[in-house]
Amino acid sequence: MKVFVNKRIPAIGIKLLEEAGLEITIPENNNLSYEEWLEYCRNTDAVLNVGANKFDKYFFEQCPNVKAVALYSVGFDHVNIKEADQRNIPIGNTPDVLSRATSDVAFLLMQSVARRASFNFQKVKEGNWGDFDPLHALGQELYGKTIGILGLGRIGFEMAEKCRKAFGMKVIYHNRHQNIEAEKELNAVYVSFEELVKQSDVLSVHANFTPEQKGFFNRSVFEKMKTNAIFINTARGGFHNQTDLYDALVSEKIWGAGLDVTNPEPMSQEDPILGLSNVCVLPHIGSATIEARNGMARVAAENIIAFSKGEKMPHCVNPEVYKD
Ligand code: DGY
Repeated sequence: MKVFVNKRIPAIGIKLLEEAGLEITIPENNNLSYEEWLEYCRNTDAVLNVGANKFDKYFFEQCPNVKAVALYSVGFDHVNIKEADQRNIPIGNTPDVLSRATSDVAFLLMQSVARRASFNFQKVKEGNWGDFDPLHALGQELYGKTIGILGLGRIGFEMAEKCRKAFGMKVIYHNRHQNIEAEKELNAVYVSFEELVKQSDVLSVHANFTPEQKGFFNRSVFEKMKTNAIFINTARGGFHNQTDLYDALVSEKIWGAGLDVTNPEPMSQEDPILGLSNVCVLPHIGSATIEARNGMARVAAENIIAFSKGEKMPHCVNPEVYKD
């Protein structure tokens, strides 16, 4: 079976695919254009895919030979699942292995914003250390405050647990389903979205993104948040309206924001949000640890190998394709 791997990935993934006797193609060019990528996909049975190129109707029509896709990501918002289902194409993803790393970044952003760490680091780099000033560069402490989690799945749980253990924060959450484990272990309290927005001192987004949620965090939502609130997004940039977020930050409707995902992504260097002292922006590095990326390579390869043996992918986002 032919497998197209569109970017270099950690060696463990390639080793597993090779040991399984699969015919692997990895292009010399690590940054294919969309057209080049599509051409490779036209000539393969399975794709192990890194990145956000869309697996939409057009893709599936153009690449009728593709019978399986293993994403090198937990998110699958770039895949039209309905189109994949119609063609019986299983779509694999990489949950769990990146939950710690991604929640670490959410936690890091929360602290960075609360203490204005990246802004102060920038000042040091500019030679602007400044005198000790009792009224300057003041952050806020997180002890005993309320962390609100939108999307209490694996990553959200890890973030809530860190907040609870490190700062004794009260956990509230809004989710599609109640999370009984989190309620037992973290005393998490399920609230409506409106209450989540109103009560959170830190609001951290960890939900799966769907097109209906585009711009969910907009002006009217930011206006309802506490003035000391910190907005954290490590899920998908589409969740927030970045202009509205900028306005909320400039007008001090909220305290600050930590973003590992932006809207658009990548964002422009000219984006005025980058000039604000109450913001920390990272370039989508949630899963960028050696451990998580090795895990993602292993899980993505295992998904492909299972498919090649006629077995169910161990991590499949559309298991309906396996039903008769
Ligand atoms: C994921 O795994 O979904 C990360 O955001 C990388 O895309």
